[in-house]
Amino acid sequence: MIISTPPFCPVQFDDPDLLDSAFHAVTDMHALWAHLREVAPVYKADPGGGREPFWVVTRHDDVTRVLRTPTEFSSRRGTILSVLDLNTPDIATDDMLADTDPPRHGELRKPLNPAFAPELVETHDELIRGLARDAIRRAIDKDVHDIAHDTMMFAMSITGTLMGLPPQDWEHLMHVVMMTIAYEDPTYASGNAMSTVRQARHQMFEAFREQFAKRERGAENPDAIGRMRNMDLTEGPMSEQQAMVNGYVLLIGANVTTPHTLCTLFNQWAEHPEQFERLRDNRDDIQIALAEVLRWASPVTALMRYAIQDVELQGQTIKAGDPVSAWLGSANRDERVFKDPYTFDLTRRPNRHLAFGVGPHYCIGAGMAKVTLQIFIEEMLDLVDTVEIAGEVQHVASHFVPGYKSLPVRFTPRKVAAAL
Ligand code: HEM
Repeated sequence: MIISTPPFCPVQFDDPDLLDSAFHAVTDMHALWAHLREVAPVYKADPGGGREPFWVVTRHDDVTRVLRTPTEFSSRRGTILSVLDLNTPDIATDDMLADTDPPRHGELRKPLNPAFAPELVETHDELIRGLARDAIRRAIDKDVHDIAHDTMMFAMSITGTLMGLPPQDWEHLMHVVMMTIAYEDPTYASGNAMSTVRQARHQMFEAFREQFAKRERGAENPDAIGRMRNMDLTEGPMSEQQAMVNGYVLLIGANVTTPHTLCTLFNQWAEHPEQFERLRDNRDDIQIALAEVLRWASPVTALMRYAIQDVELQGQTIKAGDPVSAWLGSANRDERVFKDPYTFDLTRRPNRHLAFGVGPHYCIGAGMAKVTLQIFIEEMLDLVDTVEIAGEVQHVASHFVPGYKSLPVRFTPRKVAAAL
């Protein structure tokens, strides 16, 4: 039987501060989004305090239009909704993959694509399986285990390998990645928001600068940093600065999203064990199930674009130059597209979720993420009998990723697996 979760908790709708990270950590955003989709699907938020107003787009069709139409909505001025980035010049415009529009976008994306192709990731099957097993066994070995950190290191170890980053740096780099997206969270903040983000960027840029310098141009360089060393752009070879910003976006793209998907998986497993029992006997359906976990998780909450021309959307006129935020978390529960959107259904088909975005910037790591998450689910099905949430769950304070800081779980082992 599919259990329907109650959609809403009470929430104050008046003037929600969507730029306030703490608001995201404590609010039932689904209640707010449902309200916005119904009464104000495209509205201009005015956060006050000297911060620039920005448009908020919450319906699936409109979010799709914003992301899919770079001739109307540009990525060049940045794509992360942030107090720090709104209406400030973007140092990575036209250099960082995410902050480009076609045709420049294709010039950067095409040579990077093979570094994260699913076929390449599959050649690391044993490594990924081993990492998944280790993370799961650490939880099985204890009565209660906080698994949030293990999910981060699982993602980091795979990206670190494919990018060619030294293993001794992974733990530190993961912390630095979190500083950039949860700069107001006491666990990651180091000084005020601006100083936290600056320190994090500096440390990540340095890590990539060092590795870029170690690769020789023209040499066989299979990892992502090596590929960047050999990349030619219209203006000449990819520069150190360009490699730094692209390394940065790859590291963040991979390492804040995959852990959140896994933590959502554990949560949903605990709530709907019968659905995961059925999956044990239907392993060909893991990708269908994963799509629902991704829809439910929506690891990227919102993305930014800037209007290039005046655009009419839901009767509102978005003026050229206006910042526009597109809310993936909301689109993924849009009742206009999903039947019973608040019902978690591992057999849901079709599933037009937007967790990986849509249009030219559709996640470059989607294939890689699907392979690694499939492997993790297979290992869970082999090794774990039941999942229980066994303590207080804590989310990171971030308006970019609704990730987990703490997820205490109790995994009971499969009897068959324990005997092996
Ligand atoms: C569950 C896992 C993941 C989710 C949910 C996710 C989500 C997304 C989304 C929503 C976008 C669209 C951004 C936009 O339109 O501006 C995106 C783009 C991107 N993702 Fe992912 N991502 C995941 C895994 C990864 C991985 C494993 C990598 C690393 C290889 C990665 C690297 C990137 C990069 C570099 C972009 C920018 C692509 C472009 O601008 O063409 N992501 N991702």
